[in-house]
Amino acid sequence: MKKLMAANWKMFKTHEEGVATAHELVQLVSGRLPDDREMLVIPPFTLLHGVGQVLAGHKGMLLGGENFYPADQGAFTGEICPDQLLDLGCTFALAGHSERRHILGETDDFVGRKVAFGLEKGLAVILCIGETIEERRQGRVEEVLFRQLDKGLSGVTRAVDPDRMVVAYEPVWAIGTGEVAGPEEIIQAHGVVRSRLVNLLGETGNNIRILYGGSVKPDNCASILALDNVDGVLVGGASLKAESFSRIVLA
Ligand code: G3P
Repeated sequence: MKKLMAANWKMFKTHEEGVATAHELVQLVSGRLPDDREMLVIPPFTLLHGVGQVLAGHKGMLLGGENFYPADQGAFTGEICPDQLLDLGCTFALAGHSERRHILGETDDFVGRKVAFGLEKGLAVILCIGETIEERRQGRVEEVLFRQLDKGLSGVTRAVDPDRMVVAYEPVWAIGTGEVAGPEEIIQAHGVVRSRLVNLLGETGNNIRILYGGSVKPDNCASILALDNVDGVLVGGASLKAESFSRIVLA
């Protein structure tokens, strides 16, 4: 399976800044991306058209949406549907990022509806999961990850295309803090995720990519990618500058 090297730009960049960063990324990565890797840029909705135009046609360079509402076009003010993401050239979309869970109150059940609907509409979906520092201190990591996987994948069957179902393990306490999870913590958590994926989806669960996210930087990425059950990364802050994200993509 190809390693997925993903950038989550969250709520950053104007149109001009986003297009400029995308051009820089293409210049830095084009022709150097190994065949076993994909680069995915997930910008704010306002940048999808501009960034998508820059990435289009470049081998292994993909576009994704940060979120979507689990319904077809309709009266959902402020929301975006999968068809609108696909229309702009998105192949991927995030579901259940921890900021949407903990700041915007998205529930496990709602995230599960998003995963199922996004897959049904033809998107590849990245289900984001991860525990808070309180949950970790209480020794509840496995319980939390199992719950988020069970609910997040409640509408997914063993027939799912493993290339279109991705899980991102992002310990909430490592997001935006500079406190990257240690190798043992990553190995343990990704092992829990892998075992649950196989329990839920059989052999398909062995072929679903598990990304690590949470303070990934150019100087720690190679060692993270070398760990068991790490099939790529989901990067926030360090992806906002083309120079640092290109070093991560090529790490
Ligand atoms: O979705 C990726 C993001 O949550 C990680 O953020 O800034 O810790 O790389 P950051």
